[in-house]
Amino acid sequence: MRRKVIAGNWKMNMLPNEAIDFVNNLAPLVKNSTSEVIICVPFTDLFYTLLTAQETNIHVGAQNMHWEESGAYTGEVSADMLKAINVEYVIIGHSERRQYFNETDETVNLKVKSALAKGLKPIVCVGETLEQKETGKTIEVITTQIAKALKDLTNDDISNIIVAYEPIWAIGTGKTATSEDANESIKEIRNEIKKDFGTDDVTILYGGSVKPENAKELFTMSDIDGGLVGGASLEAQKFSKIVNF
Ligand code: PGA
Repeated sequence: MRRKVIAGNWKMNMLPNEAIDFVNNLAPLVKNSTSEVIICVPFTDLFYTLLTAQETNIHVGAQNMHWEESGAYTGEVSADMLKAINVEYVIIGHSERRQYFNETDETVNLKVKSALAKGLKPIVCVGETLEQKETGKTIEVITTQIAKALKDLTNDDISNIIVAYEPIWAIGTGKTATSEDANESIKEIRNEIKKDFGTDDVTILYGGSVKPENAKELFTMSDIDGGLVGGASLEAQKFSKIVNF
């Protein structure tokens, strides 16, 4: 379902005590937010973050998971394990996972299906490289990524996913896509989903150097439903300004 969502992605940052402080600081600042607030935290912070966020409107997500239920996958965490401690969301296919950990459209699809089957809501990431952008391939790349990531999903599944369009060249670089370009790309993703599933009622976020200064311009565009925020989600004050854009 289409709704306003602001999600933080802490990446490999924050110790448990910092996570607890963050939630305690953020909660009063976002308690009247009309957007859904999510923070996606490292595995070791999940439990503490969930406990601290219990009586607040802050939702908690993980940043990755394995697609198998259990087994000999040293170092991995399954959807069941996340679900068992009440994790609600999980980022799937972030470009850093694709780049540094060899995730492919195929493993992204396996993870998305496993997450949904276990009742987790995946935040599915797609986005083009600078070279793909400069050679005019953005739309082709992101619509192919989304079609492959969502392969074999049902129409009902679509209401339980969030998509994040994150141009790789904009992540952590301080360079943001123009609001028009981001909106256009997201419109194309929406069209692709409509073509494949008969509905475009899906929440699609923009990610890549979102900050308090550009949040409003981006998030008030017709097709952008909110943001996936990396660096600027590490400070409660700063993140709350984005949430309350
Ligand atoms: P950034 O990261 O906001 O630091 O650019 C966004 C992301 O990687 O999700």
